[in-house]
Amino acid sequence: MTLTRPPGVGAPPPATVEIPRIPMPAEPQSIEQTGLSMGLLTDLALKTLYLRGQMTLGEIAISLGLPVANVGDKIMDFLKTERLVEIRGGASLSAATYQFVITEKGAEKAQEALARSQYIGRAPVPLAVYVAAVQRQSIANVRVNQEDIVRAFAHLVIPRETLTQLGPAINSGRSIFLFGPPGNGKTTIAEVMIGLLRGEVVLPYAVEVDGQVIKVFDQVYHRPALDLAAQERIRFDHRWVISRRPIVMTGGELTLETLDLIWDETSKMYEAPFQMKANGGIFMVDDFGRQRVSPRDLLNRWIVPLEKRVDYLTLHTGKKIEIPFDMLIVFSTNLDPADLVDEAFLRRIRYKIGIGSPTVEQYEEILRRLCARKQIEYRAEALSQILAYYRKKKIELRSCHPRDVLDQIIDTARFLQRTPALEPDLVDMACESYFVSLNSDGVPAG
Ligand SMILES: Nc1ncnc2c1ncn2[C@@H]1O[C@H](COP(=O)(O)OP(=O)(O)OP(=O)(O)O)[C@@H](O)[C@H]1O
Ligand SMILES: [Mg+2]
Repeated sequence: MTLTRPPGVGAPPPATVEIPRIPMPAEPQSIEQTGLSMGLLTDLALKTLYLRGQMTLGEIAISLGLPVANVGDKIMDFLKTERLVEIRGGASLSAATYQFVITEKGAEKAQEALARSQYIGRAPVPLAVYVAAVQRQSIANVRVNQEDIVRAFAHLVIPRETLTQLGPAINSGRSIFLFGPPGNGKTTIAEVMIGLLRGEVVLPYAVEVDGQVIKVFDQVYHRPALDLAAQERIRFDHRWVISRRPIVMTGGELTLETLDLIWDETSKMYEAPFQMKANGGIFMVDDFGRQRVSPRDLLNRWIVPLEKRVDYLTLHTGKKIEIPFDMLIVFSTNLDPADLVDEAFLRRIRYKIGIGSPTVEQYEEILRRLCARKQIEYRAEALSQILAYYRKKKIELRSCHPRDVLDQIIDTARFLQRTPALEPDLVDMACESYFVSLNSDGVPAG
C-alpha cells in the first residue's frame, strides 16, 4: 500500500511513502473508544490550550493525536459548555478551523490540572491496550535464517561458527551473553543484530494507568519508520508512532532504580524504565559488570522477567503493575564471565557466545578491507611490520586495531602533508604512538 503526497504550490515534489504492513491501531471513533476518561482528555486539551494560547479545533486534535470527529469536537464541546473555553470565530464555516481561547475560569482549571500532572502532548493509551500491542508484535515473531545472518554480518570479519551461534540466539528472543576481550566487536555485533529484527512496531507516546501518565516514546532509543509528517497523513490512531524495533543500550550508568518506573515529583508523571522502552526490540546491557550495582543483583532483577516474560513495576502509590518483558536482552562484557556470576545465574542466560581475538588471517582480512574502503593500497610488508609490534610489546591482536592503526597512519600522513599510504616510516610512527604494553598491573610498561 502506498500513499502519495498531493501535489500543491510550494509543496515538496510528490513522494511515495511505503505504509508499513503491520496491524495499525484504528483511529478511535468515540470518546469511549479512546479508553480514557473524559476528565483526562479535557484536562489534556485545556493544558494544551493554556500553554499554547489560541488554537483551532484541528490543531488541538493533532496535538492530542485524536481525530476531530466525535472525539476532539466532543472534548471541546464539553469545555465550552463548562465555560472553560470560548470560540473566537473561524476562518471558514468548518468546525476544524474554529479558534478556541481559554477563559479566566479555564485558566484556573488548567493550572489545577498542571499541578496534578504536567504531561501535555499526545493522549496516552490505556495500559491494557499497550500490553495487547506488545504481545501482538512480539519479538518472538522475528525469524532469521543463515542467509540473513551471513548478509547482515558481511561487513565484519567473524568466524562462521560465531555466526551459527548468533542466529539461534536471536531467534530465541530471550537472552544472550557476549563475552571476550575488548575491541573484538561485541558492541558492533549487537548493533548489527538490531538490523536483523525486521518488521515495524507501534509504540505509544504514553501509557495511562490509574489516571497517571507513563512516558514511553523516547527519541533517543526509538526510531520512527517514517518521518513524522508522513505518519500524520496515514489514517490510524495517532497516539502511536510506527517505529523500527527499539534498541536500548545502557552501560555503566545502569542502576536498579532505573529499572523501575521513574516518578518525577515536579512534573507528576512517570518515565518508562529502559526495559519498557526496549519492548519488542533489543535491550543491551553493555559493559556488564562495570555497573555500580553488582552483576548478581542485576541478574537477580532479571530472572523472573526473563523466565516469565513479564515484569512488575511499582507505582509511587505502592501498587504494582504487570508489563510484558518482550525483548532480546544482550549482556556484553570483557570481564571473565566466571568472575562475574556463579553458574546458577549464568545458566539463566541461554546463549553464551565468546567473541575472541582475531587470528592473523582474520586480522589481515580486516586490514585489507579497510584499505580498500579508504582507497589505500594494501601492502603485505606493512602487515608484517605491524605484527612485529605485537611481539615486541607482548600484546594480543584485536579486531579494532587495524582500524585504529590505519586511522593513525592517515592522521600522521596528513600532518606531514603526505598522501596516506602503508609506507614503512608512517606505519612505524603510527604503531609507536598507538601500541602500548601494559604490565600485569595494567600500567604502561613502555
Ligand atoms: N570482527 C570485526 N570485523 C571488523 N571490524 C571489527 C570487528 N570487531 C571489531 N571491529 C572494529 O572494532 C571497533 C570496536 O569494536 P567494539 O566496540 O564492538 O568492541 P567491543 O568488543 O564492544 O569492545 P569493548 O569490550 O571494549 O566494549 C568496531 O567499531 C569495528 O570498527
Ligand atoms: Mg563494547
